[in-house]
Amino acid sequence: MPEIFALVPAAGCGSRMGSGLPKQYLPIAGQPMLYHALATLCANPDINTVFVILTPDDAYWHSYDWSLFGEKLQPLFCGGATRAESVLNGLMAAELELDDWLLVHDAARPCLSHKQLAHLIEVLRDDEVGGILAVPVADTLKRADAECRIVHTENREGVWQAQTPQMFRTGLLLQALQTAPNVTDDASAVEALGFHPKLVTSSYSNFKVTYPQDIELAELLLVQRK
Ligand code: C5P
Repeated sequence: MPEIFALVPAAGCGSRMGSGLPKQYLPIAGQPMLYHALATLCANPDINTVFVILTPDDAYWHSYDWSLFGEKLQPLFCGGATRAESVLNGLMAAELELDDWLLVHDAARPCLSHKQLAHLIEVLRDDEVGGILAVPVADTLKRADAECRIVHTENREGVWQAQTPQMFRTGLLLQALQTAPNVTDDASAVEALGFHPKLVTSSYSNFKVTYPQDIELAELLLVQRK
């Protein structure tokens, strides 16, 4: 019976945040950002182990208390120069079976809910390919020129915003990331092999913390949930 694992790339520096501290360690609701996604993943009874991928010279991990998560949480200090490289390095270090499921989730999405995570697993665990959490685009989309003037309005019909977790068989993801290393998410690499991952409807609450103002919103959501 294939098992389910999670892998959290957390080896970025978060340059768009403009902070000295790497984004994944910025405080949100009394904990480093990274803590919240790890807590949700570790609490899921279907997930065997949660691997967190850190830079080889991560100077912050050991300053926090992760003991609540016990053996279920395994740090791997093998992050790479890009997100895709960090995921690939983590995949190789984790030594999973090729047909095990792997959920890749960004540390920068601290508001993933237990319900969204359980729904993704339920929809995909018997799927041929795997898939991702995503939301249909609600806003009108504008194409801009270099001066921030509208060139035209894009057709948003059938356009979705990709989120994480992204859930694929370990063997497929390994092959995909080795074949297409220049991708910004895992699904793109799987698509490049000719597969069509499933879009599993999520909500905007699972947004990616990218800019300073996102921290406040994440904090509001997480405090309200407590
Ligand atoms: O920068 P961005 O928000 O797109 O990063 C998405 C996720 O990928 C974050 O959790 C970040 O820590 C991780 N990442 C990584 N290794 C890199 C770059 C980003 O693990 N070299």
